[in-house]
Amino acid sequence: MEILKYGNLTLKENSKEIEIFDDQLISFANEMYEKMVTNNGIGLAAPQVGSLIQLIVIDIEDGNGRLDLVNPRITDTSDEVVEGEEGCLSVPGIYAKVMRFAKINVEAQNLVGETFNFQADEFLARVIQHEIDHLNGILFIDRVDEMTKKKFRSDLKKIKKKYNKILA
Ligand code: CO
Repeated sequence: MEILKYGNLTLKENSKEIEIFDDQLISFANEMYEKMVTNNGIGLAAPQVGSLIQLIVIDIEDGNGRLDLVNPRITDTSDEVVEGEEGCLSVPGIYAKVMRFAKINVEAQNLVGETFNFQADEFLARVIQHEIDHLNGILFIDRVDEMTKKKFRSDLKKIKKKYNKILA
């Protein structure tokens, strides 16, 4: 399992809803979780490891442990938006401020297909929005203003070149 980097076109694709909840899904999620922890990540979405399915693993190290989200949907958002710094395992070395909803309601399934609902705020809300974006082919750098994007243009080019030899 490899983490795809900026420039890989799979990261721009939409992911498919998961319909089969089997042992294979659980072991895939476990492998993703291990990969994320090994790389000091706090969230990882399946398309980042080349699988276009709606699966996210999160562990923001807040004592609540691991959170697996299958087919997650944001069902409601606060009016309030907040700015905060983000990074991404697929965009190594780049950190930028992104606007996100302060609070979200989420509906998702777990790894055995049970539906659950919860409200998230603060950092967890940010991470979930970042990861759900991955399921829709959106990276956090797609959400920064033009000025910031310009600032990172050469760094992004370098990442593209380094990790995506064919595209370079
Ligand atoms: Co990311």
